[in-house]
Amino acid sequence: MVRGLRTGSPAGIQWCTVVELAIAVRDVVRDYRRPRTSLTRPGPVVHALRGVSLDVARGQRFGIVGESGCGKSTLLRIIAGLDQPTSGSVQVGGVEISRLPERRLGFLRAQLQLVFQDPMGSLDPRMRVRDIIAEPLVAQGHRNNLARVHELLEAVGLQPESADRFPHQFSGGQRQRISIARALAPDPRILVADEPVSALDVSVRAQVLNLLDELVHRLSLTLVFVSHDLSVVRHVCDTVAVMNRGEIVEMGPTDQVYDRPVHPYARQLVAAAPRLQAALAGRTAAVLAAETLAARTVSSDSVGSPNPLARPEAPGLATTTAPRDSSTPTPDPTPDPTPTPDPTPASGPAPKDAP
Ligand SMILES: Nc1ncnc2c1ncn2[C@@H]1O[C@H](COP(=O)(O)OP(=O)(O)O)[C@@H](O)[C@H]1O
Ligand SMILES: [Mg+2]
Repeated sequence: MVRGLRTGSPAGIQWCTVVELAIAVRDVVRDYRRPRTSLTRPGPVVHALRGVSLDVARGQRFGIVGESGCGKSTLLRIIAGLDQPTSGSVQVGGVEISRLPERRLGFLRAQLQLVFQDPMGSLDPRMRVRDIIAEPLVAQGHRNNLARVHELLEAVGLQPESADRFPHQFSGGQRQRISIARALAPDPRILVADEPVSALDVSVRAQVLNLLDELVHRLSLTLVFVSHDLSVVRHVCDTVAVMNRGEIVEMGPTDQVYDRPVHPYARQLVAAAPRLQAALAGRTAAVLAAETLAARTVSSDSVGSPNPLARPEAPGLATTTAPRDSSTPTPDPTPDPTPTPDPTPASGPAPKDAP
């Protein structure tokens, strides 16, 4: 990841370390023009990004936090080649992508994949899971890919039989697992996640976060992770950038930024985070208690992690132990060490997420 490089100078040779960059963003500006509301004047301009620069090293877990509307998704779209900056430069794997036409971005799709906030919106409801996951493989010319689909389902903690079902037959957490499996299909080096757990019930967030955490580690991926929720970013990222109104106002190692924020906006954001975390944990506990009393049935997944942000006691989310969003309640609230099969019927209502 870090290699030595010799730099020459008239006085002699010096050694320095050069970090191999997965992503380099320089002075990126993105202005949007809103539709005009008057016949005589053009629509107002929104300055979504006002000169953003950042480096993401290979293998780094880079978090971007900031309140809604500060430009996080715009930045991710530009990094993923889905939008072009008004000015500035973006390199992915050393290749300048900001001015490349769509048809020349094929290499980027193989290297960098996205996971979005709303899995239902990003999964075609008419396609079976096997076709959804295989889509990027087919685009690369790999046709006979069912074994790979099963492998990917297994890696995200879903049963191979899930391949024959449709997205609406899964819970929110399971659908996000399917999105992650599809993102991993072309074997990317960089995973870019835009609020991947924000649409999920708080109690399911920890499961999906832990899954992402484990996969990034196991596959040695570079991760760019966006959230408006600081506690979620702290859980998975080693470096964090705080954005406000289209600018990065503070950036550094996650612990440093969270423990000793310098910029007034970062301080404000961090000061609000513990309250949020406590509220999340409280709500989860309340939900668990209520559901346990009402139905006396809870999933084996959630019982182990009542705090959505708590790391599991025993990590090891290897393929065989990856937690599943069990769609079928187990008869007893006691956690079952063996992963429950996912017997969701091929038809019928979408299962509710584990409480
Ligand atoms: N396609 C677009 N057209 C016009 N304005 C946009 C467009 N996309 C984003 N914006 C504006 O840019 C700003 C940043 O949006 P976004 O990147 O989605 O923020 P975030 O992801 O942090 O919530 C917002 O004011 C938003 O309304
Ligand atoms: Mg967004």
